[in-house]
Amino acid sequence: MRVRVTVIHGPNLNLLGRREPAIYGSQTLDAINAMLAQAGSRLGAEVKCLQYDGEGEIIRAVHQAAEEADALVINPGAYGHTSLALADALRAVSIPAIEVHLSNVWTREPFRQVLVTAAACRGLIAGLGAYGYMLALRAAVHLVRGTVPE
Ligand code: DQA
Repeated sequence: MRVRVTVIHGPNLNLLGRREPAIYGSQTLDAINAMLAQAGSRLGAEVKCLQYDGEGEIIRAVHQAAEEADALVINPGAYGHTSLALADALRAVSIPAIEVHLSNVWTREPFRQVLVTAAACRGLIAGLGAYGYMLALRAAVHLVRGTVPE
């Protein structure tokens, strides 16, 4: 069975590669998405990657993912710290979500140390850079299939 995974990148993540590379790394979003597509084909997963800056657009993408995907990987960016509406959207849908943060938010400013959306997700990966997305994709496949992907 092919597992359908929607990956949602939140605000400012389109700037990856040139946005504070010491914190977020030098890989561009396109490079990360290509890596996810490649990993997806090895895992038997169909990966759809989206990026939005707006809270409402992200919430609608969560609703849409519930219609067409088996699992969700989401880096909510700063909305992870603030958006109760996004947390509610993640709770409202029945597919599992895995939250990803490139940086280890707990080593940063105090306002980044609260994640309101993470409590609405099945799991959380932070601080491992772009590799965190790869782990999240594997975890998504694992949650849907109930097996450990090779
Ligand atoms: C981030 C961490 C957030 O605090 C920040 O607002 C981002 C990126 C991360 O991936 O480390 O936009 O989500």
